[in-house]
Amino acid sequence: MKPRLDPSPALLAITVVLATIISFPVARCQETSPYDICGQSVQCGDIDKIEYPFWLSGRPQHCGHPDFQLSCRSDVPMLRFGPVDYRVLKTDSSIHTVTVARNDLWETLCPQPLYNTTYNTTLFNGNNLGQEDVSLYYGCQGILGVSPLAASFRFSCDVNQTQSDSYFYRTSLINIDTTISSFLVQCNSHITVPLDQSWVNRIVTATESDLRQALQDGFKLRWTAYNEECDQCVRSGGRCGSSSTSPYQFVCYCASGNFSATCNNVSVENGGGGSKSSSFGIVLGIVGGVIAVAVVGVVFFVCRRRKRRGIKAASPAQTETKAILAAGGSSQALTSDNSNFASSIPSYPSSKTSETSKEFVKSTYFGAQVFTYEELEVATDNFNDSKQLGDGGFGAVYYGNNLIYK
Ligand SMILES: *[C@@H]1O[C@H](CO)[C@@H](O)[C@H](O)[C@H]1NC(C)=O
Ligand SMILES: *[C@@H]1O[C@H](CO)[C@@H](O)[C@H](O)[C@H]1NC(C)=O
Ligand SMILES: *[C@@H]1O[C@H](CO)[C@@H](O)[C@H](O)[C@H]1NC(C)=O
Ligand SMILES: *[C@@H]1O[C@H](CO)[C@@H](O)[C@H](O)[C@H]1NC(C)=O
Ligand SMILES: *[C@@H]1O[C@H](CO)[C@@H](O)[C@H](O)[C@H]1NC(C)=O
Repeated sequence: MKPRLDPSPALLAITVVLATIISFPVARCQETSPYDICGQSVQCGDIDKIEYPFWLSGRPQHCGHPDFQLSCRSDVPMLRFGPVDYRVLKTDSSIHTVTVARNDLWETLCPQPLYNTTYNTTLFNGNNLGQEDVSLYYGCQGILGVSPLAASFRFSCDVNQTQSDSYFYRTSLINIDTTISSFLVQCNSHITVPLDQSWVNRIVTATESDLRQALQDGFKLRWTAYNEECDQCVRSGGRCGSSSTSPYQFVCYCASGNFSATCNNVSVENGGGGSKSSSFGIVLGIVGGVIAVAVVGVVFFVCRRRKRRGIKAASPAQTETKAILAAGGSSQALTSDNSNFASSIPSYPSSKTSETSKEFVKSTYFGAQVFTYEELEVATDNFNDSKQLGDGGFGAVYYGNNLIYK
């Protein structure tokens, strides 16, 4: 009985190998669909839906625009302009704006070193968003005595253990009043920050704590990242992104594929590493094919060896089966032979009580145990011609061998 049980693990192993070969490319496709990946909402702190043009760890660059990388630090999404980090407070894709606050002015009004508010004006535009610049002047020692600015505009900074007066004021009003400008020009340094217009209008009554709050409320910037293209893409049901091979090329990722503008319009050939992955697919296919052929080869080799041993035991049946083989020389005859065999499989008794002689007769009728090497090679060639035949051929050889061992 041991040889009868023996082929089962082998069959299982073959099934696993074939299943792996078949399922691997499918799994790969599902994993890398940019439409799905770029549609996943990635969260960082208070921003629970980071969308195009932004990307960060967990959201690949091709789901965004290469110049709009965010970093999520201690649950705060950050944009970096030059030397300064900006906290992203809000994004609004419908009007392509992001609200940011300077991270260095978040906790203190007196950061060191001092940097101006700068951003790449090709990528961002802060005009016409209801904002106005406010200037912060540092190190203003009262050389001229009395400050022309009210005490409410003054705040104190400790720089190198030295307390120094600082002032904030509307940037647009400073040069209008020469008393103020000639006073402020003596300060060590100054920076400007855009703040909400409505707050700036009320600056006359503002205090230091109001300024802190206004800085934490941030300011808006409108981004420029294929805005028109992205709107059209989204309207057609796609998700905006960029090519993974040429990052500055816009791609509209759709459920139906990659497109250059809108879903189902102009398809992007090899859009973002398409050629790479398709050549990888070809290599994968070849490797899979080689493995499949190798598996089939091993199966035949094992069967052959078993047959050899089986022939010794089954020599009385040799003549009869050879006659059948001669009759089944054509591939069509082989097919019918296989179907005969397949349909008769359930009729093989599996219990020990079955008549051994009856089984033996059946095995010799269908059995492949008397195939010679040459005959097997002929059979293998036929097998290669047609997949359907191949499966049947394998089964026939396998079960014939099995019966001989009984
Ligand atoms: C602004 O961004 C554009 C687009 O990436 C780039 O070409 C340009 O060099 C940037 N300008 C500065 C000053 O960094
Ligand atoms: C504070 O001291 C550092 C050196 O310790 C110096 O580089 C910096 O300029 C000083 N800052 C001011 C505002 O004087
Ligand atoms: C900030 O910019 C203004 C002009 O816009 C300039 O006068 C000032 O020196 C700059 N401040 C710093 C710290 O670079
Ligand atoms: C594809 O895009 C072009 C140019 O934007 C447009 O003229 C054409 O109507 C679009 N075709 C479809 C089927 O949407
Ligand atoms: C679509 O784009 C993704 C990412 O850029 C890429 O990996 C994939 O191969 C592309 N698909 C096709 C069919 O070009």
